[in-house]
Amino acid sequence: MKRRKFLQNASLSTLGMVATASVIGCKNSTENTTVIASANTAIQPIVIATWLVPNATAKAWEVLQNGGTALDAVEQGCMIEEADLKNVSVGKGGLPDRDGNVTLDACIMDKDGNYGAVMCVQNITHVISLARKVMEKTPHVILAGKGAEEFGYEQGFKKENLLTESSKKAWKKWKETSQYKPIINIENHDTIGMLAIDSFGDISGACTTSGLSYKMAGRVGDSPIIGSGLFIDNEIGGATATGMGEEVLKTVGSFLIVELMRQGKTPQEACEEAVRRVIKKSGDRFKDFQVGFIAINKQGETGAYCIHEWFNYNVYKQGENNNYKSAYFNKA
Ligand code: GLY
Repeated sequence: MKRRKFLQNASLSTLGMVATASVIGCKNSTENTTVIASANTAIQPIVIATWLVPNATAKAWEVLQNGGTALDAVEQGCMIEEADLKNVSVGKGGLPDRDGNVTLDACIMDKDGNYGAVMCVQNITHVISLARKVMEKTPHVILAGKGAEEFGYEQGFKKENLLTESSKKAWKKWKETSQYKPIINIENHDTIGMLAIDSFGDISGACTTSGLSYKMAGRVGDSPIIGSGLFIDNEIGGATATGMGEEVLKTVGSFLIVELMRQGKTPQEACEEAVRRVIKKSGDRFKDFQVGFIAINKQGETGAYCIHEWFNYNVYKQGENNNYKSAYFNKA
């Protein structure tokens, strides 16, 4: 049975019910998607994103409500933050590296496990869309620096100055001391990571950032690296990270969370285990950096956990856009 027909046949009275675990994993061989609805259940779309980003989750939700895919939803949701000049850790307006250049990292992953990423890109605001172009229009999965930028222009992206006057001012002030010590939840309150389930029951995710403020030129964080900043497995769920990219990279945190969910952990339990692994590897250093994860499973359950207080995240579901404070490890 065709997937759309399958959903149309679901009883209207059951709309809003979340698919039960017992039916998860049945393959629809004709369309190569995982059927997660049974005859008496229907899929409930949901969006979850790192930090207080209500406009971004609202945009993604709007896409889902109009019957769009989770892939379109996460891309368009992330674009809201990339264009927001007040957001100094994503897209245009992001704080620069030590040399005063704004360099952006982004990645996107779809329901079929396709992945595209760009890293260290200058002069292009919507790097999430550029990452999607890499995924859809090239034989590669990652493009970096000048190559990514040139590919962007070929694809019609506009060349823009990403360094706003206020970011330039902040950088000049920083240069007075040039002390590199990221401030928890401020200078490493960075990435927007977004996960969504659409009305077909499919999961996609996206992640975009200007990375750590005043990083070394050429530095790349976790955000564009598959399995670290983002991972999606449409049979299981997805996860994405924020905070000190170097620490997420060493734990391959997002992949770890999806694998823990595969082994039966809830998204919350999986996020907590991933944070504990980051902490364990860091010795005492965890006191000086933040890492936070969010996750979603195929049933639409969510989880979030971080090292230090004040990481928060937005969830849009059942027509409501709410921000939640994440549970955290360090009660000291
Ligand atoms: N988590 C983003 C970064 O470290 O660049």
